[in-house]
Amino acid sequence: MEHQDQLAVVSRRAPANGATVAVSLGEPSMEPDVWRKDVRRARERIGEGQILIVNVLGTPRHDGDAEALVADYLLCAVWAAESGADAVEVHLAAPDPFSEQPQMIYENLPLAAQILYRVRAGVSVPVLARLGPFKSPRQLHETATKLAPWTSGYVLVPGVHRRVVDEKGNAAFEGSTRARAEIVGADTFPIASRQVLEMLVWRKAGAWDRAVLAVGGITSVERAQWILREGADAALVATAALFDPLLAVRFRQAQATAVA
Ligand SMILES: Cc1cc2nc3c(=O)[nH]c(=O)nc-3n(C[C@H](O)[C@H](O)[C@H](O)COP(=O)(O)O)c2cc1C
Repeated sequence: MEHQDQLAVVSRRAPANGATVAVSLGEPSMEPDVWRKDVRRARERIGEGQILIVNVLGTPRHDGDAEALVADYLLCAVWAAESGADAVEVHLAAPDPFSEQPQMIYENLPLAAQILYRVRAGVSVPVLARLGPFKSPRQLHETATKLAPWTSGYVLVPGVHRRVVDEKGNAAFEGSTRARAEIVGADTFPIASRQVLEMLVWRKAGAWDRAVLAVGGITSVERAQWILREGADAALVATAALFDPLLAVRFRQAQATAVA
C-alpha cells in the first residue's frame, strides 16, 4: 500500500516494513453481554506484568442528543471497569454525529471534554483518551491541555483516513459511503510517530504531565524501541499482532538481552 497525500492504493506487493491494512467496517460491536464476558475472560488469563486496557465507544442513537451519547460512553466505561479493565480507553477518534462538517469527536472539544469528564467521575480505574491525527501541532497542544484534567494519558494515532483505490484507480470498497477508509499498520508510522513526538515535546514544555501511549504502525521491535526511547510510556500494536503475533515476544527478548 502507498500513500500519496490523501490517497491510499491497495496493492499486492510484499510490504517492506510490515502489513498495512485498509479497514472499512463502520463501528460494529458485539452485544454488551458478549464483550463483557470477553473482558472477564481476558482478565482471568492475563499474565503477570500485563495490563488490560479496554477501549470503549458510545453509540449515537438516531434520535439521541449529546447527553444520550455521553451517557452511553459512561455506561460502556462502567461495564468495562466492572468486567476487569485495569484502564478504560475512551475512543474519541470516532465520527462526531452532531457536526455538519465531517469531523471526529476529539475535534469537538466541548463534547470530548464532557465525555471524558463524565467517564472520569464514573469509574475508579485510570481513564485514557484515544485521539486521532491533528491538523496542526497547535491543535494537538490545545486538545491535550484542555482534556488533561480528566485523563491519565493519551493514546495516539490509531489510524488515518484515506480515499482507497485499487491499482487501476477504482474505489477499492463497494458502496458510495465507503470511498474513504481507515488505514492502519506499517505505512501510518511516519504520520503517527510524528504526532507522538509532538505530544512528547508539548509534555516536556510542561503544560501537563499525562502518559503518552504510542500507537500506529509499530510493526517492528526497532520501531517500538525507538518510540519508547523518545519518551513514549508504552508502544501499542494492532496490525502487527495479526500478521506477526510473536513481535511482542521478540521485543521482550531484545529488552532482556540489552539489560543482561
Ligand atoms: C482488525 C482490527 C480491528 C480493530 N478494531 C478496533 C476497534 O474495534 N476499536 C478501536 O478503537 N480500534 C480498533 N482497531 C484499531 C487499533 O486499535 C489500532 O489503534 C490501529 O490499528 C493502529 O495500530 P496499528 O497501526 O498497530 O494497527 C482495530 C484494528 C484492526 C487491525
